[in-house]
Amino acid sequence: MNILVTGGTGYIGSHTCVSLLEAGHSVVIADNLSNSRKETVNKIKEITNRDVLFHEIDVSNKDQVKKLFSNNKFDGVIHFAGYKAVGESLDLPISYYSNNLFSTIFLAEACINYGVRRFVFSSSATVYGDNQAPFKETMKLLPTTNPYGSTKEMSERILTDVAKANSSFSVSILRYFNPIGAHQSGLIGEIPKGHPNNLMPYITNVAKGKFDKLFVFGNDYSTLDGTGVRDYIHVMDLAEGHVKALESIDSGVEVFNLGTGQGTSVLQLLKAFEQANGLEIPYEIVERRPGDIATCFADTTKAEKHLCWKAKRGIFEMCRDAWRFETQYTD
Ligand SMILES: NC(=O)c1ccc[n+]([C@@H]2O[C@H](COP(=O)([O-])OP(=O)(O)OC[C@H]3O[C@@H](n4cnc5c(N)ncnc54)[C@H](O)[C@@H]3O)[C@@H](O)[C@H]2O)c1
Repeated sequence: MNILVTGGTGYIGSHTCVSLLEAGHSVVIADNLSNSRKETVNKIKEITNRDVLFHEIDVSNKDQVKKLFSNNKFDGVIHFAGYKAVGESLDLPISYYSNNLFSTIFLAEACINYGVRRFVFSSSATVYGDNQAPFKETMKLLPTTNPYGSTKEMSERILTDVAKANSSFSVSILRYFNPIGAHQSGLIGEIPKGHPNNLMPYITNVAKGKFDKLFVFGNDYSTLDGTGVRDYIHVMDLAEGHVKALESIDSGVEVFNLGTGQGTSVLQLLKAFEQANGLEIPYEIVERRPGDIATCFADTTKAEKHLCWKAKRGIFEMCRDAWRFETQYTD
């Protein structure tokens, strides 16, 4: 299939392009490079030995989306493009709502107008709010505490309504848990901008000496060691989940959790990183961070059954691959 990957030079998008190409699909990337670099396209080509088309466009711009669809014939769209920093979304709600919602609306509209049936959407476990883990796709979604989370919940609703009204449009909504790690080549990975919000880029920045120590936000949660528990998933497992989801799209809308089903605490991840890479990471326990929940991990039964997909890489591999990318990557 010829697949449009929006946000394809970004972290998850670039790894998914590799998996798509390795599965025999063709890839057209649309990215405005607001949080990524054009040289990633060459890295994807280098890893896969395949050609990739790249368009530097803004997918929240209706005219640019229309032009892209009129000049290409797509069999499916995987929509990663969007802003993703929770904290920033509280300061810039208009940017977040307009970028994340207009892109979804205009891409869905173009799919209807140009007869593209398959649409895969990047959602997030954040839509479960503070439900009790493990999170199941059938759970009632709880209000999120930030505009970023709201854009994911609203995009899910928009796509569901569009699919209901158009039997020729089918959607797979993927709720990601916590992707970390990098491609084993060390050529592509997560390039965090500014102060990292997520744990792994924070740890690798401390390991690199950019920060003195890691601040651990709270050790009084009701978890095994008091620190927050998350479901970390290797980005290549996540990428492979997208290929399965795209290929298995049938009709209507399906929602899938993409996680490992295993919870890992902040201190457990820190220790795993130290052991996997022979490094020591200084840390300090500080106050809880507002909005953080104690425990978040997936029930992965549905993805395993319907997509025949299961994450297979472990926490050490995630830590090793994340660090390999950091040490090979130059600003
Ligand atoms: N990384 C995570 O932990 C995580 C978790 C859950 C969901 N998600 C979602 O997955 C998707 C991909 O996340 P990521 O971590 O790869 O982020 P990323 O920032 O690395 O990638 C997003 C890409 O989209 C591009 N982009 C943004 N707005 C655009 C626009 N209007 N037009 C064209 N390109 C645009 C950026 O330049 C970037 O290359 C996002 O929608 C994000 O919300 C990410």
